[in-house]
Amino acid sequence: MPEHRFPDGFVWGVATSAQQIEGGRGAGGRGDSVWDRYAEDGRIADGSDPSRACGTYERWREDIELMKWIGVSAYRFSTSWSRVIPCGSGRPNPAGLDFYETFVDALLEAGIAPHITLNHWDMPVELMKQGGWASRETIAAFVDYADAVTRRLGDRVRHWVTHNEPWCVATLGYEEGCHAPGLTDPSAALLASHHLLLSHGRAVPVIRGNSPGARVGIVLNLVPSYPASDSEADADAARQFDGYFNRWYLEPLFGDGGYPQDSIEDRVNYGHLPSPELTYVQEGDLEEIRAPLDFLGVNYYSRAVMTPDEDGKAADAKLVPEDELTEMGWEVYPEGLTDLLLRVTKDYAPAEIYITENGVALADVPDEDDRVDDPKRVDYMRDHLIAAHAAIEQGVPLRGYFHWSLMDNFEWGHGYTKRFGLFRVNFDTCARVPKTSAVWYRDAIAANAVSD
Ligand code: FCB
Repeated sequence: MPEHRFPDGFVWGVATSAQQIEGGRGAGGRGDSVWDRYAEDGRIADGSDPSRACGTYERWREDIELMKWIGVSAYRFSTSWSRVIPCGSGRPNPAGLDFYETFVDALLEAGIAPHITLNHWDMPVELMKQGGWASRETIAAFVDYADAVTRRLGDRVRHWVTHNEPWCVATLGYEEGCHAPGLTDPSAALLASHHLLLSHGRAVPVIRGNSPGARVGIVLNLVPSYPASDSEADADAARQFDGYFNRWYLEPLFGDGGYPQDSIEDRVNYGHLPSPELTYVQEGDLEEIRAPLDFLGVNYYSRAVMTPDEDGKAADAKLVPEDELTEMGWEVYPEGLTDLLLRVTKDYAPAEIYITENGVALADVPDEDDRVDDPKRVDYMRDHLIAAHAAIEQGVPLRGYFHWSLMDNFEWGHGYTKRFGLFRVNFDTCARVPKTSAVWYRDAIAANAVSD
């Protein structure tokens, strides 16, 4: 069997986020986040809420044991904004910072490098009084939060991410309303995307000041966009989607022309912008957003295949039969990861890249002991790792891979109905049981290689 060996020092990890696993709502002075409120408003598909989730606030020692058992060298997790700054502004909550300090020390003790994400979506709900990300004032609140966490942990954490997937925060949260805070206002979403980017750019020097020598980056969810056919119309639909989804973030962060002009024009055409003038972009903003970064985190799950709808607007071509899609309704397309990594490297030349998320939600069937045999997850992981390896061979500076997720967890608007974990979580007891995929990943890590 051909073996795909990874470079020495390749980082093998797993990923989670605070809101999805911690629980401990209200514990140790934690304030509510926009997601606690969104759930309280009955917006989660299964009527659930993240108040307990996987119970990590109490069971974090066990999580570290699971990671030691798999043999990961790094753990990507997030600090909860509302645990650190419960009211969104004002003095940081010492108990919140203590919690993360104890956890980070235990991780380091276990030989697992912490890769911390500061904003994985759990904004303190108090900040919605000023409009959340639609307000420019929120930038300062985020920078204060980033300062508080990096001041406390900057001497020992070597990898920092400002935001996770700003597209999701802005578009799903402020325009489509299917994520917290649940707004349906395209202008607010545009403001949110800009304020997220600017707060990133402003936080970078603060993080560097508090954590000298650490590597700082941002995580984007990137979806390579393909035309449904070789027609010009489909090519244009693929261009539109790419601009709206990928380049809207990549260009201001890594390019030198700010927001992509073609995408601005698309937005004017579809009535989401009154004119091509982005009046909310102030002098100096774009320079701040372009703060040099040490790495780009890429979250890859699937691709998009585009065709125009009757108004010429990009739409999903729906070429793949429903029964071949994952539980999230996403196509499995490992080759897209190679294409994406090559494209990002060629067009934007980030110094280093990590795959900060990649994984699959399946309809896992547990036996009476909660054991799950999940060969499809093994296939998914293997095929994506082989695709990542192909990119490394073609010169992509890919330094690590974090599987989403260590364990089943609170999957945002879907509640507990979508399972992405290497460990099954019994949400009645919070017990964690390894799936076949966890055993497979353990072997791959031990070999530093994947076989066809
Ligand atoms: C990503 C999120 C992550 C998880 C996966 C499935 O968009 O960053 O928290 O929900 O999707």
